[in-house]
Amino acid sequence: MIEKKTFYITTPIYYPSDKLHIGHAYTTVAADAFARFKRHTGYDVWFLTGTDEHGQKIERVANSCNKTPIEFVDGIVAGIRNLWDKLEISHDDFIRTTEERHKKVVADIFERLHKQGDIYKASYEGWYCTHCEAFWAESRLEEGNCPDCQRAVEMLKEESYFFKISKYVDRLLTHIEENPQFIQPVTRKNEMVSFIKSGMEDLCVSRTTFDWGIKVPFEEKHVVYVWVDALTNYISALGYGTSDDTLFKKFWPADIHLVGKDIVRFHTVIWPCILMAIGLPLPKQVVGHGWLLLDCGKMSKSKGNVVDPLVLLEKYGVDAVRYYLLRELSFGNDGLYTEDALVNRINKDLANDLGNLVSRTMGMADKYFNGVISYSGLVEGPDSELIDLALATPGEVENMVDKRDLSGALASLWKLVSRANKYVDDTTPWTLAKNHESKERLNNVIYNLVEAIRFITVISVPFMPNMAPKVWELLGIADLPELHTWDSLTWGKIPSGSKVRKGEPLFPRIEVEE
Ligand code: MSP
Repeated sequence: MIEKKTFYITTPIYYPSDKLHIGHAYTTVAADAFARFKRHTGYDVWFLTGTDEHGQKIERVANSCNKTPIEFVDGIVAGIRNLWDKLEISHDDFIRTTEERHKKVVADIFERLHKQGDIYKASYEGWYCTHCEAFWAESRLEEGNCPDCQRAVEMLKEESYFFKISKYVDRLLTHIEENPQFIQPVTRKNEMVSFIKSGMEDLCVSRTTFDWGIKVPFEEKHVVYVWVDALTNYISALGYGTSDDTLFKKFWPADIHLVGKDIVRFHTVIWPCILMAIGLPLPKQVVGHGWLLLDCGKMSKSKGNVVDPLVLLEKYGVDAVRYYLLRELSFGNDGLYTEDALVNRINKDLANDLGNLVSRTMGMADKYFNGVISYSGLVEGPDSELIDLALATPGEVENMVDKRDLSGALASLWKLVSRANKYVDDTTPWTLAKNHESKERLNNVIYNLVEAIRFITVISVPFMPNMAPKVWELLGIADLPELHTWDSLTWGKIPSGSKVRKGEPLFPRIEVEE
C-alpha cells in the first residue's frame, strides 16, 4: 500500500480569558478549510487546536470573577469547544495547556535546556505587557506603551531564568533567508527579518511573582513563561518526548502554523530557537493572516465592540458565515467586518449566483424531463468553455490553497459558478424546449449544468461542509459517494438516467431593510 502524504496544521491555542469573537473564529475556520482541503485531496491530516490556559492575564481575570483559574477556564473552554462544533471545525485533537500530557513535556524541555546551558539564571529588570504576555526592551516601547497592543506596560524586577536566544539567532536568520516559504506572506517575513536584525536579547523564560503556570521542575517558585509553555503545545500534543510518540514521528515538522499577524513574532523567533536548542526540525511554514477589523478599529471586550460568532451562526447558518470569512479577507491583509458585507455576500454569491444556478437547473430538469437527466456526450457550442473551465478549476483552486490564499481559491471556484450561469444564458434551454428536434441538445445542456454543479459542490466541501450533502440529495447521487470525491472530477460521471429533484433554496435571500 502506498503511504499517504502527511499534513500537520495547527491554530494558535486561544486564551480562555473571555468568550471568543469572530476574529478568533476566522483563524480556526481558515485552518479548518486547509485541513479539510488536504484530506479531500488525499493527505493524511492532523489538525490541532486548543487553549492556552496559564499566565498572569488568566490568573487576574479569574481572580476578578472570584474563581480559581481552573474553574474559570473550564467554563470558557466548554464554550470554545461548543463554538468549534457549531462552526463544523474538524480538528483531530484539542489540547489544553493545563493537561498533564502537556505540562510534563514543557517541564522536561525546560530542564533539558537548563542542563545543556541554554537556560541560565539572572535578574530581569524591564517591561512586561500582560495583555500580550510579552517582555519588551525599553527601546521598543512606543510612547511608553506596548508596541503591539498600545496598552500600558508594567515594570518587572525579578530573578528569572533566561533562554539564550542570542546563540541561535544567526542560524535562524540563515534559515529564514534560505527558506522563502518559511514565513508567509513575504511582508511578514520582511518584518521579522528586520525585527531580528535590530537586535535580540536573551529571553526571560520564567516568572516568580504569580503562580498560575507550569512550575520550573528544579526550582518551583518559578513558573515557565507562558509563551514557552504555549508554543510547546504543537509537539506535546503529538506525544513528543513520551513513550507514545507515534504521532510526533508521523507528523512533525508541522506543515503550517496558522497564526494572526500579531503573534508571528513568537512563532518565528522564540519557537524556532527552542526547536533548534532541542535539536528538532523547524515547522515548514508559519502563515500570518491579517485581522478582521471593525470600522471603529480592532475588536476588543474593553471597547464593547466584539462580534459574537454564535449570534451570526444562529442568524445566517454555518456555511454562509464560513464562506464570508474565507472570501472576505484577502490573503495576509486585514479586512473590514460589517454585517452588511456579510449579508451582501450571502445574497449575491450564495443566493444569487450559486443558489439560483442550482434551483434554475433543478427546475428546468424537472419541468422538461421530470428530473431524469441523460447525456449523449456530444460537445457543441459553449459546452467546451464550460467543461474546460470545470476541468481546470480543481487545479486552480488547489494552487491557490497551496499559496495559502483561501479567498483566491473561492474566487476561482466562483468563476466556474459564473460560467455555468452564463452557460444557461448562452444555451437558452427554454428556447430549446420549444422544439422537439432539440431534445437531445436540451438533455445535454441540462446534464452539463448538473455535472457543473457536481464539480462546484465537490470543490466547495472544505469551505462549506454543510452544503454538499444537500446538493447530493438534489442531484440524486447521495448514495454514490464515489461521485463526491476529488478524484471523481472528470466530466460525465453522473450516470444517464439519474433523477434530480427540486428542493428548498440552498441559501435563502436575506431581506434587507432599506
Ligand atoms: N494564546 C496566544 C496564542 C498562543 S499560540 C502558541 C494568543 N491567543 S489569542 O486568543 O489572543 O489569539 C489567538 C488568535 O486569534 C491569534 O492568531 C490572533 O491573531 C487571532 N485574532 C484575535 N483577534 C483577531 C481579529 N480581530 N482578526 C483576526 N484574528 C484575530 O495570542
